[in-house]
Amino acid sequence: MAAALAWHEHATPAALAEALAGAVARTLDAAVAARGAALLVVSGGTTPVRLFQALSRKPLAWEKVTVTLADERCVAPDSERSNARLVAQHLLQNRAARAGFVPLCDDGAEPAAAAAAADRRLTGLAWPADVMLLGMGTDGHTASLFPGAEGLEAMFAERDGAAVWPVAAPGAGEPRLTLAPRLIAGARFKALHIEGADKKEALKATLARAAPPFLPVRRVLEMATGEVHIHWAPRKDSRA
Ligand code: 6PG
Repeated sequence: MAAALAWHEHATPAALAEALAGAVARTLDAAVAARGAALLVVSGGTTPVRLFQALSRKPLAWEKVTVTLADERCVAPDSERSNARLVAQHLLQNRAARAGFVPLCDDGAEPAAAAAAADRRLTGLAWPADVMLLGMGTDGHTASLFPGAEGLEAMFAERDGAAVWPVAAPGAGEPRLTLAPRLIAGARFKALHIEGADKKEALKATLARAAPPFLPVRRVLEMATGEVHIHWAPRKDSRA
């Protein structure tokens, strides 16, 4: 394992959200102080809602922060499955309403064309990202790096290729776009946010394997250098 894994276990999702939001805000603050701007990359799904709400209230120079996505589902912008919509509703609110947002998907664009357009937009951002917030599915995907996705090996092999890739995978639900593993793994501060016993077990199982095949989440952790913070809490304030 290339990255050192720092585990943080919290009693409740609310405690996790507050602790991780505090760490992210301090990191963004330091980035703005050091470089005059900060790049925050977030994931979608359902888990980050509380975290986004807590982060949106943190006092910092949000007008100097650019937010973008680790992945996006190619759906209409008003779909409940749109990660851009999730970010607009829960993160770009309160104090964080002053942050800039760079979307991945263009409405209605076919995935390959959307990936090419997103690639052009994201290439103009200041990499490495200051903060990368990742989630994970129980199948071991992170961002939209799904087990069995077409072209997954090329995405992991690429060291200076496209920033954004189109994804078609059996478990993905709809066509998606994902950030390249190298950009995910190369972020200055990396956190994996998981809730529920099932996700912890799935992560521990792939980490415990002695030999490949490894699930995408483990492959990203292997590619990462420095530390990756893993924040876990039981789901819905229970011990499940
Ligand atoms: C997405 C993601 C994805 C997500 C996990 C966890 O858009 O689907 O960015 O990688 O983090 O699927 O999703 P849940 O939080 O819904 O379990």
